[in-house]
Amino acid sequence: MKKKISAIVVVAENGAIGKNGYLLCHLPADLKHFKDITMGHSIVMGRKTFESFPKGPLPGRQNIVVTRNRKYRPEGVTVAHTIDAALRKAELPGEVFIIGGAQLYAATIDRVSTLYLTRLHATFDDADAFFPDIDPEQWRVVSEEAHEPDERNRYAYTFVTLERVEGDK
Ligand SMILES: NC(=O)c1ccc[n+]([C@@H]2O[C@H](COP(=O)([O-])OP(=O)(O)OC[C@H]3O[C@@H](n4cnc5c(N)ncnc54)[C@H](OP(=O)(O)O)[C@@H]3O)[C@@H](O)[C@H]2O)c1
Repeated sequence: MKKKISAIVVVAENGAIGKNGYLLCHLPADLKHFKDITMGHSIVMGRKTFESFPKGPLPGRQNIVVTRNRKYRPEGVTVAHTIDAALRKAELPGEVFIIGGAQLYAATIDRVSTLYLTRLHATFDDADAFFPDIDPEQWRVVSEEAHEPDERNRYAYTFVTLERVEGDK
């Protein structure tokens, strides 16, 4: 059976998703959200995103890392040399999640059927990694949950789930 491909991302104003190889800010509520959604599933990421993790592979998930480097073999991950191979190697049940970064999102967005978007209501002028533009007509919002900043989460944010409009992909 064909696997359902989802993407999960935190996006600030103007599509910004990262700078200098890292996330734009620390937002604990989003890290928990990410964990809740992806736990137990296969996650696919670019080599640069993998190398941004402070403690190596994310536990409880099959970490699939895409690289063109044939000699790249970090411990505890599944390595793939093309995006198609990465998707084929996904072994865990349910959705397979594209978790970034910019190159991976751009290369896969046309195949994604569910998008778990955290909108970060903040602007980062020095961002250098961006999410691809999406056509709002191709997506419908299935859930939306807004949060104000609090003592642990410095910015306002909204969890939005989007599904590709049927009949398109
Ligand atoms: N806001 C968010 O939710 C979020 C999520 C994830 C990441 N990020 C941010 O995004 C930034 C990183 O994004 P990025 O675009 O620079 O890097 P990336 O997509 O994480 O990784 C790029 C690398 O993946 C490999 N790759 C990409 N396409 C490939 C293909 N078609 N076939 C084989 N290998 C391929 C290459 O590795 P090799 O060079 O080894 O060949 C490439 O250099 C960071 O700032 C990170 O923090 C943000």
